[in-house]
Amino acid sequence: YERYKRVPVVNLSDRQWPNNEIKGAPIWCSVDLRDGNQALIEPMVVEEKIEFFNLLVKLGFKEIEVGFPSASQIEYDFLRQLVDRKLIPDDVIIQVLVQCREHLIERTFEALQGVKKAIVHIYNSTSTLQRDVVFNMNQEEVKKIAIEGTELVKKYMKDYDGEVILEYSPESFTGTELEYALEVCEAVSDTWGASKDKKVIFNLPATVEMTTPNVYADQIEWMHRNFKNREAVILSVHPHNDRGTAVAAAELALLAGADRIEGTLFGNGERTGNVDILNIAYNMFSQGINPELHLENVKEIIDVYERCNKIPVHIRHPYAGKLVFTAFSGSHQDAINKGVKAMKERNQTYWEVPYLPINPSDVGREYEPIVRINSQSGKGGVAFVMDTYFGFKLPKGMHKEFADVIQKISEQQGEVSPETIMEKFREEYLNRK
Ligand code: KIV
Ligand code: ZN
Repeated sequence: YERYKRVPVVNLSDRQWPNNEIKGAPIWCSVDLRDGNQALIEPMVVEEKIEFFNLLVKLGFKEIEVGFPSASQIEYDFLRQLVDRKLIPDDVIIQVLVQCREHLIERTFEALQGVKKAIVHIYNSTSTLQRDVVFNMNQEEVKKIAIEGTELVKKYMKDYDGEVILEYSPESFTGTELEYALEVCEAVSDTWGASKDKKVIFNLPATVEMTTPNVYADQIEWMHRNFKNREAVILSVHPHNDRGTAVAAAELALLAGADRIEGTLFGNGERTGNVDILNIAYNMFSQGINPELHLENVKEIIDVYERCNKIPVHIRHPYAGKLVFTAFSGSHQDAINKGVKAMKERNQTYWEVPYLPINPSDVGREYEPIVRINSQSGKGGVAFVMDTYFGFKLPKGMHKEFADVIQKISEQQGEVSPETIMEKFREEYLNRK
C-alpha cells in the first residue's frame, strides 16, 4: 500500500465551513444520458433515451446533460428527436458535452439548433499525471486548450438562435494542483467575459475519487474562496464513486460552498459510478429539506431505470432497495410494531419509528413488507403479521407459544409467508377438536 500514499493537497487547520448546514436543494444536473449511458454494457437506443429523458423531466430535473452529440450519430439523432418532437419543456435546459475542438464544437451547435436554452459543456484534462504521461504538455499548453475551447463556443454561438451558458470542467480536477486549476478557470472566465449577469459554470470533477470526502470538500472550498469573482461563478461538483464515498463527498461539498451537483439516478456511471443524486435527495428529504425533486414514486423510477439501463437497483440501495423497509430480526419487528402503534395512539404526524428512518409510504412503498418472518423473528413479529394482514389480535399470552410454532417451521423451510402463518394458526387453534 505504500504505493498509494498521497500528500494532502490542501491543509486547512482552522476548519469553518462556508455553509454551516444544507438549507435547500442545490441545482441538480442529471448526467444519466451521457456519463451514465457511456458506462453501460449496452448503451441506450434513441427510444430508451427518450423514455429516460421523460422520466428525468417528470422528476423535476431542470438541467439534463443529454449526451455528446458530436461524438456519435445516436447522440446526435437523440437530440434532434427531442427538438423535432417538441419534448423539451420551456424550463428545462439541455446540456451537451464536447471537447475543445473546432469541428466537434461546430457539429454540437448544429445538433442544438432549435433548443431554446443550452449549456455547452467543454472540458479538458488538467491533471499533473495526464499532462505528463498522456499529452506530454506543459501547464501553459493545457490552459490554452481551455481558452481556445471557450473562444470556439463564442464563435459558433453567434449563428445560434438560443441562449448559451458555458460550462467548463477541468477534468481530473482532484489530480490537479489547486492553484493551476484556479488559473485555468480564471482564464476561461476572462475569455468568456463572465459576470454576475453572465455566469459561467465551473464543474470540478472527482473524475476518479482519490481521497476521503473531506479532502474533496477542502479542494472545493479553496476554489470557492479564491475565485476572483465568485458572483460570476456557479460552482458545480461532479463526484465519482471509486472509494464508495461520492454521496458524502457531494454533501460535504455543499457545506464547502458548491451550488450545483452533477450525478445520476442510483449512481450509474463510469466504473463504480457517478454520485447517486437520488440518495442525496432522499437524504435531504429525510432531514426535512425539500430536495425539489419528485421522489414519491420510487417504483416508477426503478422501473424505467432498470428497463432502459438494463441493470438492477441493488436490494440494499438506501431508500429504494427491495429490502430496505423490511425487518427480519424479532427485536426490530417488535420495536417497529410498538413505534407504529405509539404514533397512532398519539396522533403524531412527524415520523418517529425505531429502525425506519422514513415512512415507506412517502416514497410509494408499502408497510406490508416491513415484517417478514424467518427463523430470526421474534414473538412480536408474528403477532404483528396476524394483526396487520388479517386484523387478528393475538392475546398477549399466546404470542410466545405461537411464535415458537412458526419458528420451528421457518427453521426447516426458511421464510414463512403471512398466509402460511394464518393457515398454521387455524390448524393449531381453530380446527382443534
Ligand atoms: O468525470 C468527469 O471528469 C467527466 C467530465 C467530462 C466532466 O465526466
Ligand atoms: Zn464523469
